[in-house]
Amino acid sequence: MDLDSILQQAKPIVQQAARYIQQMALKKDTLAVEEKFKNNLVSEVDREAEIILVDGLSELIDNAGFLTEEQTVEQTKQEWLWVIDPLDGTTNFLRGVPAYAVSVALMQHDTVVLGLIFDCVQNHLYTAIKGEGAFKNNIPIRVNENTVFEQSFIATGFPYYDFSKAQAYLKVFEYIMYNTLGMRRLGSAALDLCHVATGMYDAYFEYSLHPYDVAAGALLVQEAGGNVTDFAGQDGYIYNQQIIAGNQAIHTKILELIRMHFEV
Ligand code: IPD
Ligand code: CA
Ligand code: CA
Repeated sequence: MDLDSILQQAKPIVQQAARYIQQMALKKDTLAVEEKFKNNLVSEVDREAEIILVDGLSELIDNAGFLTEEQTVEQTKQEWLWVIDPLDGTTNFLRGVPAYAVSVALMQHDTVVLGLIFDCVQNHLYTAIKGEGAFKNNIPIRVNENTVFEQSFIATGFPYYDFSKAQAYLKVFEYIMYNTLGMRRLGSAALDLCHVATGMYDAYFEYSLHPYDVAAGALLVQEAGGNVTDFAGQDGYIYNQQIIAGNQAIHTKILELIRMHFEV
C-alpha cells in the first residue's frame, strides 16, 4: 500500500469535512442536538461530516472497513480499517468554544499506520505516517524536551460519565495541580494529542476514550518522538479506553502516578 499517496488523497477529503463543519459553526444555534448518553451530545453536523468522510475515503482503498463514531456506515473489521471521529469536541462546537477537530486514522490489522487531524478553528492540518515522522501543515513537529515535572504543562480530560474511577482520577489531578506548571482540559482528545506532538503540552492523559478519539493523535505523538501507553504502561491505548501520551520523561512520571492510584 502506498501510504504517501493515500495521505495525499485523504487530505482534501478531511478538509472538505472540516469546511462543512466551519460553515455549520455559523448556524450552530439552529441545529438539532441529541444526547446519545449522559453528557454525550451529537448533532446533524457530526453525522453529515462523517458521511462526507466515509464517501470520500471509501474510494481510496478497496474493501477497507470502517470504525466510526456516528456509525453512518456498516462497521466491519478488515485488514485495512478507517477509524473516524468526524467531529471531536462536539460540546465545544455547540457552545462556541474554539477547539474542535476532524480525526481520521488508518489501521492495518491493529496498528495505526496513518493519521490526519484537522483543527477546524485554527485551520491546521496535522499528519503522520508510521515511520515517517509527524507534521503540522507539512512542517515536522517534535515533542518537547522538558524532563522536570515541576515545569511540566499537562492536558487531561475530566471524567464526565464513567465516575467509577473518579476518586483515583482526583488523586492524580491533585498531585499534578500541586506539582506542575498547570493543567488544561480543552475538550478535544484529538487536539490534546496534537498539542503533545508539537511540544505545547508535556503530556496528556484521560480514560473512557474510544479508538476514534485517539488513533490518529496517538500516531502523531509517537511519530513526534513521544511515548503512548495505556494506564498499565502497555500498548492497549486504542481499545482499552485509557491513554497516557507524552514526551518520554513526563510520560514516565504520569504513568508512575497513575499506577499509584488506579487499579491497573
Ligand atoms: C470527546 C472529546 C473530549 C473527551 C471525550 C470525548 P466527542 O469527543 O475528545 O475531549 O474528553 O472523552 O468523547 O464526543 O466530542 O467526539
Ligand atoms: Ca471524540
Ligand atoms: Ca465526535
